[in-house]
Amino acid sequence: MASRVSAGHVFVFFSWILILFSVSASAEEVDHVLTLDQSNFTETVNKHNFIVVEFYAPWCGHCKHLAPEYEKAASVLSSHDPPIILAKVNANDEANRELATKFEVQGFPTLKIFRNGGKSVQEYKGPREADGIVAYLKKETGPASTEIKSLEDVKSLIDESKVFIVGVFPEFSGEEFRNFTVLAEKLRSDYDFGHTLDAKLLPRGESSVNRPTIRLLKPFDELVVDFQDFQVAAMEKFVEGASVPIVTLFTKEPNHQPFVMKFFNSLNAKVILLVNFSGENPDAFKEKFKDVATAYQGKGVSFLLGDLEATKNVLQYYGLKDDQIPLIYIQQSDDQKYLKTNLEADHIATWFKEYMEGKLKPYIKSETIPEVNNEPVKVVVADSLRDMVLNSRTNVLLEFYAPWCGHCKKLAPTLDEVAVSFENDPDVVIAKLDATANDFPNDTFDVRGFPTMYFKSASGNIVQYEGDRSKEDIIDFIQKNRDKTGESSSVGSAPAKDEL
Ligand SMILES: *[C@@H]1O[C@H](CO)[C@@H](O)[C@H](O)[C@H]1NC(C)=O
Ligand SMILES: *[C@@H]1O[C@H](CO)[C@@H](O)[C@H](O)[C@H]1NC(C)=O
Ligand SMILES: *[C@@H]1O[C@H](CO)[C@@H](O)[C@H](O)[C@H]1NC(C)=O
Ligand SMILES: *[C@@H]1O[C@H](CO)[C@@H](O)[C@H](O)[C@H]1NC(C)=O
Repeated sequence: MASRVSAGHVFVFFSWILILFSVSASAEEVDHVLTLDQSNFTETVNKHNFIVVEFYAPWCGHCKHLAPEYEKAASVLSSHDPPIILAKVNANDEANRELATKFEVQGFPTLKIFRNGGKSVQEYKGPREADGIVAYLKKETGPASTEIKSLEDVKSLIDESKVFIVGVFPEFSGEEFRNFTVLAEKLRSDYDFGHTLDAKLLPRGESSVNRPTIRLLKPFDELVVDFQDFQVAAMEKFVEGASVPIVTLFTKEPNHQPFVMKFFNSLNAKVILLVNFSGENPDAFKEKFKDVATAYQGKGVSFLLGDLEATKNVLQYYGLKDDQIPLIYIQQSDDQKYLKTNLEADHIATWFKEYMEGKLKPYIKSETIPEVNNEPVKVVVADSLRDMVLNSRTNVLLEFYAPWCGHCKKLAPTLDEVAVSFENDPDVVIAKLDATANDFPNDTFDVRGFPTMYFKSASGNIVQYEGDRSKEDIIDFIQKNRDKTGESSSVGSAPAKDEL
């Protein structure tokens, strides 16, 4: 849970939140949510058996959307027995940063559930509108696993569109039962749990069970799996493995969303096949893809099949285009990417085999090299980075920017002026690269925010520009760090001077 994720993962994750949970704002404002800060956080959390804390930032749009829903939920839950307390912490406030760090807040809003006076902390993974929050938290305060005594219980508890985990026991005692309870407590925010003495009540699976058994019911693949090792770690591993579809489907069907979230949060290499489901013959793709996924199960690779209609955002996020569909895209946890566009169903197996054998060349995301590039500030893309910057004989100041970044827009006219002032100097180039649309080597350029500027001297020295964003300072810096004509006479980033 506390594992570190790369910036890419966090980015993808928040995009999903954005895509999957579109919440509607309401103007209503009540005051049932406690406001906590560094001075009274611990004291308050210690006092309660069950308290939810939202870490927010005042500027965060998702937090603003959540606020009225959260207030509404707090007002409903204030009369719940036992009490369910909702609180919030402004994690943007310098005084509260320590709290945010302690609880590993990596984005806004982050909601955490604190139990037993803060002795156990768990991520809130529920919905973000009032009714959903209320239902989710009511369930969270109840027992982690519910007894199934009748067919009515089955009907009310087991949602056929979700994973449901049942412990079948000859009696509700003994080490197996206790371990199952520990598991349910541990994974309660991710799965629904039940326990029963009578396997015959369950909708699927063997009806005569003569020893303690965990039965996982799921809406995909084999639909039911039994497991009988009651060591907690083994059960956990079983649940994590068995609850992921061989191929995760991403369509407009809302029931797919939890699985899609899980897919994108996985640290496995992600294999994404995007097809137009209303186009011709999607079944051939589905079938061939599933064959491959089945063959490579448990090999550290996850598979997702997406319908173009539902995955436009995915396409855009990866910088891909409609007319490249059907396509297959692989994203490794080290950010290495592989791509095959305008794919035929029959190509899937061979292409993937070559990938697994390390025979494919990684895909580098790039805009197309502009045909005309005669503005004062030159446009660099991934495909021209080598020629225009890394291997060029000129001194280059390169700005990494994002189209949505305000500071970049502010810097643009200044950079223009700098570029104009060097217009008659062929040894100095001012350039920019859209870092959201182009890959670049992150071991050469450490870009953590926008804009980031790097300077590469003619002989290949690369330094980050950390001065003021004023015309004068930038020009000064270039003059100080540039190689004068004749100082460098070789090409290449390697120790160039040796080649003289
Ligand atoms: C915590 O302290 C802040 C002021 O530092 C106050 O505004 C807030 O109401 C307090 N919260 C509680 C629950 O006492
Ligand atoms: C219960 O879980 C503990 C911890 O994982 C394990 O050592 C023990 O063997 C388990 N008991 C059974 C009956 O599997
Ligand atoms: C998907 O296929 C349908 C049916 O052939 C077609 O109408 C639609 O334009 C296609 N979508 C795209 C983005 O190509
Ligand atoms: C570059 O990115 C990869 C993948 O995210 C990461 O593993 C590596 O540590 C990064 N390198 C640097 C120097 O940041």
